[in-house]
Amino acid sequence: MTKSIQIALDGPAAAGKSTIAKIVAEKLGYIYIDTGAMYRAITLKAIREGINLESGEEAGRLLADTRIDLQPSQDGQLVFLDGKNVTEDIRSQNVTNSVSMMAAHESVRKQMVKLQQILASGRGVVMDGRDIGTQVLPNAELKVFMSATVEERARRRFEENKKRGIDTPLDDLQKEIAARDKMDSEREVSPLRQAQDALYLDTTNLSIVDAASEILKLAEERLD
Ligand code: CDP
Ligand code: CDP
Repeated sequence: MTKSIQIALDGPAAAGKSTIAKIVAEKLGYIYIDTGAMYRAITLKAIREGINLESGEEAGRLLADTRIDLQPSQDGQLVFLDGKNVTEDIRSQNVTNSVSMMAAHESVRKQMVKLQQILASGRGVVMDGRDIGTQVLPNAELKVFMSATVEERARRRFEENKKRGIDTPLDDLQKEIAARDKMDSEREVSPLRQAQDALYLDTTNLSIVDAASEILKLAEERLD
């Protein structure tokens, strides 16, 4: 029996990647790495420090001088930026609106990919993002590209926001998600793409439990 595998989950915003990744990682006793949180953390710092987000040079320099740590927690993962807990702050609309611009810079992606590869090295891991199957873990034993219709993804974010006491109109959420997907898919460096050897999972009509069981079944097949 293979001792542990690497699982790469990619796809557009609100496809359910992190929710499913957390469940799968917990069941398998693996670590979970939310790479989007890392791009969000450096974006938060850039906003706070008034860095020009359009400049790849400034963004790359900022990241080289930054520490981003991920720590497993009951709810999934805590995110630390230069030693300070920013788990909640990185989910603000301000960060969400700017993160794709930050993530488009080659200077930023190069450093992030290296860090993510170190975090995943030699252990059972479930990693979610946009370029995990294509760039970060090209040899992952299981790659899944998860998606759902943009209407369903906006509805999910709407419900999630409501639970957190945030009231953003559904229409605005759908526009924001579509704009981010477009930027992430059309950027020159490591655009959002399904890896050639990734399986496609449409979660539009799948419950969280069913989507997680589907991925666990695929993982177990690779552990046999
Ligand atoms: O959770 P949500 O789908 O809103 O996004 P996220 O996973 O937190 O990712 C935020 C943003 O980071 C994405 O829209 C991408 O611009 C960027 N990202 C990326 O470029 N590559 C990754 N591996 C992960 C995230
Ligand atoms: O990580 P990503 O942006 O792909 O999505 P997420 O943050 O895991 O999921 C977005 C929202 O959709 C969460 O509130 C999940 O509970 C919900 N969800 C769902 O309702 N049905 C699914 N099959 C997957 C996620």
